[in-house]
Amino acid sequence: MSSVKPRRHGRHGGLPVLLVGALTLALSLTGGPANAAQQATLHELAAAQGKYFGSATDNPELTDAAYADILGSEFGQITPGNSMKWDTTEPVQGQFNFAKGDVITGFAAQHDQTVRGHTLVWHSQLPSWVGALPSTQVEAAMTRHITEEATHYRGAVTAWDVVNEPFNEDGTYRTSPFYNAMGTDYIATALRAAHAADPDAKLYLNDYNIEGLGAKSDAMYALVSELLDEGVPLDGVGMQAHLAVQYGFPYQMQANMQRFADLGLDVAVTELDVRMQLPADAAKTATQSSYYQQVTEACLAVERCVGITVWDYTDKYSWVPSTFPGQGAANLYDENLSPKPAHSAVRTALGGQDGGGGEGGEPGALKAQYRNSDSSVGDNQIKPGLQLVNTGTTPVSLSDVTVRYWFTAGNGAATYNSWCDWSPIGCSTVTHRVVAADTPEAGADHYLEVGFTGGTLAPGATTGEIQLRLNKTDWSLFDESDDYSYGSGTSYADASRIAVYVGGEPVWGIEP
Ligand code: XIL
Repeated sequence: MSSVKPRRHGRHGGLPVLLVGALTLALSLTGGPANAAQQATLHELAAAQGKYFGSATDNPELTDAAYADILGSEFGQITPGNSMKWDTTEPVQGQFNFAKGDVITGFAAQHDQTVRGHTLVWHSQLPSWVGALPSTQVEAAMTRHITEEATHYRGAVTAWDVVNEPFNEDGTYRTSPFYNAMGTDYIATALRAAHAADPDAKLYLNDYNIEGLGAKSDAMYALVSELLDEGVPLDGVGMQAHLAVQYGFPYQMQANMQRFADLGLDVAVTELDVRMQLPADAAKTATQSSYYQQVTEACLAVERCVGITVWDYTDKYSWVPSTFPGQGAANLYDENLSPKPAHSAVRTALGGQDGGGGEGGEPGALKAQYRNSDSSVGDNQIKPGLQLVNTGTTPVSLSDVTVRYWFTAGNGAATYNSWCDWSPIGCSTVTHRVVAADTPEAGADHYLEVGFTGGTLAPGATTGEIQLRLNKTDWSLFDESDDYSYGSGTSYADASRIAVYVGGEPVWGIEP
């Protein structure tokens, strides 16, 4: 029998919330596999869609155990906020120091996270000795810096922001010691040096205010097109996405991402935060949630968008208040490390159930109801009646939903037919198949898996009944009396032994 575990958010401050349906609490509370109550992390939800969800971090914060706990569990990727920048790694020419960056890669290794290296060539946080070099020496110094750092982190860093912030707002090239010495060639030179040092790392150009269509993103588009034409090693474009509620959402973000993707490049959201003028209020907070959600949706809609990194996950360690006086509250978690509405919005966009927002979250956005439509437990067919109810506050896309009804096969053929006999939503939108369980349990060596080709279930809505039926191809008999999901009730009632998944994540029921 299965366990009922506290939801993962319980340890972040709120009381542990126990599972879902009333019926489930009658079941054993000991041992057993995962169940529907455990809330998937942002990274798990993203990973189910082939993306990562990450956060920036910085060395001083890692001594904060509660902070590090969430960083290590909720996120699948980290970016050092400062510790791989030039002023840290080569403060004096030729004197390299990777100690702080190594702490970050060590944390990532311990927590099974990938690392985006940030950043090799940037006009900012650049030690003054670089700008003081005669221009004839800048290229060699740049190449050496890239070579030393990218070689050091080979294998520990999966992607590099090789050049950061090459453009001005109007799309002209930003001046820097590198641009001044080499003109625009410094970018190709930097990429080639990084590729030589670490041929496996994905190499990016990264900038802000290139999230939407506009002069600056046009400039980036022209640059990367030219680099690709010239065969320069380049894998992706990083969109920092330092957004602000008072500036509006980037114009056509998804279309902009798509045009880079169409060049054959990866796209990453590398430094997402959404700041606001303080104090925060309900309207600004709602706008912020919507921006986080829209960024997430844009990334999900673009296949080459590989993932999202927030520029630290909590207001406690945000760079915003010190950089933009009077602004803040930009992150997914507040200063007490409690998830904010934006966190919930991201979860929902990623296909998770609502409920990341702390108190008041609903443990199950969908529930399964069942009735037995089969008067005989010993005949050659099993006839479950099923209906799903959206118990949440957001619509659920039915194509993300699967349902499992567990039974035992007994003797006879190991092949099955399954049927949808009738449903008000139309049997043509209902898919069904019999699957042999990977780990057969008593009463549950097979399950009927039900899915949907499309449709949306609004909050409070139900699919109405779905009349299902299955048989073995030799029409041999079943014994349903011991079937895990079997119930004798002939009118619809909540069914905790039928599991419902959204985007592959359990949202209802207890697995056998
Ligand atoms: C910021 C860090 O978060 C701060 O701690 C530091 O003082 C300044 O830099 N764009 C970037 C990041 O590419 O490197 C910046 O990080 C934020 C803006």
